[in-house]
Amino acid sequence: MNNFVHDIPTRVLFGKGQIENLNDVLSVYGKKVLLVYGGGSIKKIGLYDKVMEILNGNDYTVVECGGVEPNPRIETVAKGAELCKEKNIEVVLAVGGGSTIDCAKAICVGAFFEGEDYWDMVINPVRNAKALPLVDILTLSATGSEFDNGGVISNLKTNDKKGAGFTFPSVSICDPEYTFSVNAYQTSAGSADIMSHVLEGYFSRKESDISDGIAEAILKTVINNLPKALENPEDYDARANLMWASSLACSGMPEYGKEFTGWSCHAMEHQLSAYYDITHGVGLAILTPRWMRYILEKDPTTLPRFIKFAKNVWGLDGEGEELAHRGIDALERFFIDNGIPMILDEVGINEEKFEEMAIKSNTNDRLTNAYVPLDKEDVINIFRMCLKSK
Ligand code: NZQ
Ligand code: ZN
Repeated sequence: MNNFVHDIPTRVLFGKGQIENLNDVLSVYGKKVLLVYGGGSIKKIGLYDKVMEILNGNDYTVVECGGVEPNPRIETVAKGAELCKEKNIEVVLAVGGGSTIDCAKAICVGAFFEGEDYWDMVINPVRNAKALPLVDILTLSATGSEFDNGGVISNLKTNDKKGAGFTFPSVSICDPEYTFSVNAYQTSAGSADIMSHVLEGYFSRKESDISDGIAEAILKTVINNLPKALENPEDYDARANLMWASSLACSGMPEYGKEFTGWSCHAMEHQLSAYYDITHGVGLAILTPRWMRYILEKDPTTLPRFIKFAKNVWGLDGEGEELAHRGIDALERFFIDNGIPMILDEVGINEEKFEEMAIKSNTNDRLTNAYVPLDKEDVINIFRMCLKSK
């Protein structure tokens, strides 16, 4: 096992009714709050009213920064950061999914940013940058933003979408009931994202019994619970399992002690959503089985990992390449059965930008140094495979 550092300072308050602790956890940081949220789902489910009742009832000064977009934009980060500076905000409260929390993380750092262009802060992030404290209330199980320091911000002017380490939430309130209202499409897309966060590290040159076991448990948790959540959106245990799976999957724990893998599907998907503003989890679901088939053929030394995946995750028997392919097919079938589009055309993407996106996928040489290294032509080939069913 390789060396690793476990360093997640986030306190997670998990379960029904944890919002009752909001005042206690927030007041530690001050009384001037920037409330960050998305396009209005928190108003529809009554969560906005509940939060305002707690804040107003405890003498907070609240400044609002609503309207955070899915695939949050740099302009919204700038707007929030300026508000923090103007209104002397002491703590940021994000209520929403990954986009809202990511945007809030960038705002926390942006509050101290002295440059001209906030995009510089995304492309040249400062390690352990000074940041306002962040408390969040999670409403969608997907990204793990509630339990990591990453934030992914989009710049539509340049078709760039970049992840950066901004700041960890100090406290995350994770109540599965707030995800009852997430529609089937976003529930499935979020689940594909959770699975991808695990799969990206699972296919690595270095094995680790403990990390692989955690990874397989998360994958099986999603496989068992996504259909239940779709069948009955108010199935608390199904939603709870997906929620904790979300936090663990992107925490680094499923790959502690393993070899860097490049997270190839994320590198490619961030280009799809940068250019076409598609749902991140859907892009990953489309890419992942194609990427798997492609690397298995390109580098047969990957075969034992695919066999392990087929046996331990899908419970399949058999051997060799045939078994490996059945494991990949099972993953693709799972996505299809849970309503995820599996062809790029279905999400409005054609060949036009393949070359441009393939070049950008290799930012920071991520693909050159990946589990199976990929060059521009490889990425274009994988994109092409996503234009048709198997
Ligand atoms: O904007 P609102 O009105 O809140 O609606 C959202 C949005 O339309 C809706 N939604 C959220 N909670 C809901 C709800 N609708 C009904 N009931 C609820 N309880 O769902 C839609 C999608 O929300 P969004 O926050 O965009 O989804 P997600 O959590 O999947 O976040 C995606 C973003 O996170 C980035 C992605 O690239 C993308 O930009 N990622 C962040 C990561 C991280 N921080 O570590 C890692 C990931 O790999 C990922 O790249
Ligand atoms: Zn992701």
